[in-house]
Amino acid sequence: MKKEEIIEELKKARSKDTVFSSGRILGSMCTRPHPLAVKAYRMFIETNLGDPGLFRGTRELEDNVIKMTGEMLHAPPSAGGKMTSGGTESNLTALWIFRNMTKKKEVIVPESAHFSFTKASSLMGLKIKVLPSKNYVADAGMLREVISRDTACVVGIAGSTNLGLIDPIEEMGEICEEKGVFLHVDAAFGGFVIPFLREMGMTEKKFDFEANGVSSISIDPHKMGMSVIPSGILLLRERKWLDAISVESACTHTRKQMSLLGTRPGAAAAASYAVMKYMGKEGYRKIVEKCMDTTLYAERRLKEEGFEIVAEPETNLIGVKVENAGKVAKMLSRLGWKVGVDEENGFIRIVFMPHVKKKLIGEFVKDFRSVVS
Ligand SMILES: Cc1ncc(COP(=O)(O)O)c(C=O)c1O
Repeated sequence: MKKEEIIEELKKARSKDTVFSSGRILGSMCTRPHPLAVKAYRMFIETNLGDPGLFRGTRELEDNVIKMTGEMLHAPPSAGGKMTSGGTESNLTALWIFRNMTKKKEVIVPESAHFSFTKASSLMGLKIKVLPSKNYVADAGMLREVISRDTACVVGIAGSTNLGLIDPIEEMGEICEEKGVFLHVDAAFGGFVIPFLREMGMTEKKFDFEANGVSSISIDPHKMGMSVIPSGILLLRERKWLDAISVESACTHTRKQMSLLGTRPGAAAAASYAVMKYMGKEGYRKIVEKCMDTTLYAERRLKEEGFEIVAEPETNLIGVKVENAGKVAKMLSRLGWKVGVDEENGFIRIVFMPHVKKKLIGEFVKDFRSVVS
């Protein structure tokens, strides 16, 4: 096949995709990457962090991403971590490390946890114990009862997938410390949001290493960090904990690997480094400010139209109660609006990512009302 024909085929396939620039993707936690991240990605397209002996410069960029993120999340000097392909790999790796360190196989996970924990449980034969929710966040009051002698790790969520809510991490951390159990915080979504909400006085909740007892954190540059897919980060309070998953890697130019993936995209590290350096705290704060403004505006408009909001938004995500949520989502999809859906709890989820335009909210609310009536 000729190059031109292949390009035509690619264009045809791409034309079937929904694009972020339409402003109509309302159910995704990803967004259009920053142009500088795309440029950096292209520059590093052939690099492989699975073989850092060959790509020392790229490795330095990964180390810097870990350092910068650690600083943002109050990590102590002993901290370390790895870039991953996203929240799923970060969560899985955290559980892998804590299972190996404790030799225990029970993990306590809040009701609202992302399904990556189900995958981790299936892959590693871990027993998941559910921590019940109270008002849609983990009920820390129940944690003491649920932790047992077999508990390898407790999970807390900072920016839940379906409602963007923040678990009482401080309280959970205190209990985990008292019980001598690891606490992993899944901030895949909220990691690049909550630090700036705190700066803006929009939340007082502590969710990172500032809270006692937090052992590790997942945070995704490819969500609110404006980087390219696949960019995730796992941070650990102690760098040495990575040894728990170390394997000999005879075929690479370094002797050991401490990651789930073998070949890993250095381009994602370069992209994340570039966008984080460029944006700085001020750049991210502005993005969060804009996303929260759109969120609160939409909340007001939806309430004015008589919709019921599931919970007061804590981050840039809203759940809207509807009957037949699955059907409503399909009807909205026919009108071009791609919303998220929680069928079990009967609500539509809307994520106000940077590509969501405030000026389209009125049109969306009108279509939403017409679909529901
Ligand atoms: C809280 C949370 N954790 C983990 C993940 C999984 O992230 P990824 O899809 O990047 O693997 C998601 C995805 O939406 C999420 O919302």
